[in-house]
Amino acid sequence: MTPMTPTTGSPSTTASGDGIDLKRVKAFAGRVMRGYAESMVTLMVDLAGRTGLFDALAAGPGTSAELAERAGLTERYVREILNSLVTGEIVEYDPAGAEYTLPREHAICLTGDGVRNMTPVSRVTTLLAQQVPAVAHAVREGGGVPYEAFQPDFTEIMDAMSRGRMDGVLLTGILPTTGGLPARLEAGVRVADIGCGTGHAANLMAQAYPRSQFVGYDLGQEAIAAATAEAREMGLSNARFEVLDVTALPADPPFDAVFAFDSIHDQVDPAGVLARVHDALVPGGRFVMVDIKASSRLEDNIGNPYAPWLYGVSTLHCMTVSLAHGGAGLGTAWGEQLARQMLADAGFVDVSVHDIPDVPYNQTYLCSKATA
Ligand SMILES: C[S@@+](CC[C@H](N)C(=O)[O-])C[C@H]1O[C@@H](n2cnc3c(N)ncnc32)[C@H](O)[C@@H]1O
Repeated sequence: MTPMTPTTGSPSTTASGDGIDLKRVKAFAGRVMRGYAESMVTLMVDLAGRTGLFDALAAGPGTSAELAERAGLTERYVREILNSLVTGEIVEYDPAGAEYTLPREHAICLTGDGVRNMTPVSRVTTLLAQQVPAVAHAVREGGGVPYEAFQPDFTEIMDAMSRGRMDGVLLTGILPTTGGLPARLEAGVRVADIGCGTGHAANLMAQAYPRSQFVGYDLGQEAIAAATAEAREMGLSNARFEVLDVTALPADPPFDAVFAFDSIHDQVDPAGVLARVHDALVPGGRFVMVDIKASSRLEDNIGNPYAPWLYGVSTLHCMTVSLAHGGAGLGTAWGEQLARQMLADAGFVDVSVHDIPDVPYNQTYLCSKATA
């Protein structure tokens, strides 16, 4: 397969007879092709991450044969992946010794268990690309692609994306922005995590605050099984998990705090869920919603380097899973203005918004149920 660019006449030609700026056509074709090349680099990052090639590179420079040996992989594939990553400016190459190097600064972004390892995010592209034909059908006919269609990979990829973030910033970057909530958790309160996925956030909080009781709810049976298994492995007696549609979040007995990590914007009925959370809190209870950092206005998001990714992920996942059930289809970039409006409509007061260190695409919405 070879890439195509439009025929634009001789290099000196700047305009066609019909007023088309041919230089602009050529420049734009180059921009499109660069985008296609970047998408291939993303897939190569996924391959290098999931096969352990980045870990092998992080251990030191090597030829493709040495790196293949180090990672236990097939040399011919390793060389081709590396060549894409070199030309894609991820890996460096020294032709003298045919040696490949992952600069230490790049290794920070592509290896390790922490919040800075960006390789799990590359897997989102791989997963969502599989749904392009089904979403194309929905674009023509309406409806959407339901959550189940993304399983079983979604649960694992979501876990890989959020686990490092939770380890890195939940206790030290998110909770400190929640006013007096850590003190209440310390004293011992009832807490829910809605759309908890594999439950790592609830488990981390349960470990840090043994006097509080945590319950995580999710639609996904596999996610809930993984969350329950982790709670057991961590020896937690104050964390439990249940398969539940949170539109039916129990309100009796009420919760002192409810958390939602990236789980409101893809709801079928987000307004209904927010109202339900409000009902399920004690007076003065706190709702902590970690969601996407974006504006509700497209014009504000132009120039945001993450915005094309957000709208694309929305089209191929967050929006379509909601529309699949006739839902609101808020979309990933529903944005701060709409989020604030919907929180107010659900009855929440004292809404404040906080950035999260090292996580530029999320922010924390902290809000309360009025005391009287
Ligand atoms: C984007 S994932 C986030 C998962 C987890 N909070 C995390 O940060 O890793 C959204 C989760 O919400 C769950 N979900 C969506 N709608 C739900 C509903 N109505 N009731 C319960 N869970 C729901 C999905 O199954 C999915 O696990």
